[in-house]
Amino acid sequence: MSRDIDRRRFVELGACAAVGVTLLPMPGCASLATVHVQPTDGVLRLVVRNYPELDRPGGRLKVAPAGSPRPIFVISDDGGGFIALSSECTHLQCTVALEGERMVCPCHGSTFDRRGQVVAGPAERPLDRYQARLTDTGELEIRL
Ligand code: FES
Repeated sequence: MSRDIDRRRFVELGACAAVGVTLLPMPGCASLATVHVQPTDGVLRLVVRNYPELDRPGGRLKVAPAGSPRPIFVISDDGGGFIALSSECTHLQCTVALEGERMVCPCHGSTFDRRGQVVAGPAERPLDRYQARLTDTGELEIRL
């Protein structure tokens, strides 16, 4: 049985790698879409139309702010807005990773849903959120 799981994971990783080469978004491969952004005056700015990953509810993007030790997860909300979540686990500050629709901490297994709420501990509080605002010109401003 574990051989089947390993084979499935191998196929997923191969598909993710192929998608990474072609730069097409694919569910479950969000970790390949990392955007490096230089903040200005403590604000990250993303032109949303440049990131098709964010075009659908639940779509996500991993953003690495210059000078920050951890990425931020930007997630399209069901209502057409965006959520910007810290990737710092609220248990003991490890960096969580995107796994499908959830974020999972590699240290002790805390799991968070796409809104950052705790699904499984030991973490007891949600991931921290950054203030995110969509401007009239289609820029997403994330205040660090
Ligand atoms: Fe994330 Fe412990 S640091 S679960």
